[in-house]
Amino acid sequence: MRPEWEGIVELGSREADLIDQIDFNRLPQHVAIIMDGNGRWARQRNLPRIEGHRAGAKSVQEVVETAARLRISYLTLFAFSKENWKRPKQEINTLWHLLEEYARSRENVLLKNDLRLKVIGEREGIPQRVRRELEKLERLSADGQRMTILLALNYGGRAEIVQACRKLLSQAELKPDEIDENTFAQYLYTPGIPDPDLLIRTSGELRISNFLLWQMAYTEFWITPVLWPDFRKVHFLEAIVDYQRRERRFGGIGSN
Ligand code: FPP
Repeated sequence: MRPEWEGIVELGSREADLIDQIDFNRLPQHVAIIMDGNGRWARQRNLPRIEGHRAGAKSVQEVVETAARLRISYLTLFAFSKENWKRPKQEINTLWHLLEEYARSRENVLLKNDLRLKVIGEREGIPQRVRRELEKLERLSADGQRMTILLALNYGGRAEIVQACRKLLSQAELKPDEIDENTFAQYLYTPGIPDPDLLIRTSGELRISNFLLWQMAYTEFWITPVLWPDFRKVHFLEAIVDYQRRERRFGGIGSN
């Protein structure tokens, strides 16, 4: 087994077998995840929904570690959508509280492992205290080289496109025919960041849910029935192996 996985996965395990199948020269550069199913996980156990989110935070930790060990360059996590404000107030408050706790407790892990955190979404709508913590973490981790974690908070794909139009119109003195796809993309939340190669969605829903609409034009989707709090290393590795079996044609006719 590759040395960086020794002591992390058991020899002869399913994880070890999957790692052996991975071609490390063809890893996705950017993986995005819709972390779905926390509420159902809690309901199955007769627990309050928030316990599902709490358990989901543990999966976040495992996925971050696994992606960084694989040397994925960008990992985007959909943690709070603009539509999530429709949920009961208590669930919303506890979710933001969890995110604040996450931001407070991650400083050492991010710096020690050379990770960078970047928030994407409408920052103005993020509760003040949480925003302050996250922005502090963004500043402290700004030089992280190993992997960038993009945390999508108060994020909506259509809203992102609209804010890009507004910014472009107010900042750039461009004539209409000077605007092309590359120019436009510089005004999104992700300038300079490659589009996701792979989208993972848990809990079996076959929807895009207003996530990275522009950036996912050619992204490969991997959907699993596993609920987010049950999502482990093994599932992430399965997604990578499956992704590497696909032929990406980007609208062309491919190599066969
Ligand atoms: C979807 O499950 C999940 C969310 C809306 C929130 C995601 C948040 C976390 C995983 C917790 C903390 C995150 C970090 C980064 C520490 P759902 O509630 O829609 O589940 P359901 O569809 O089963 O109701």
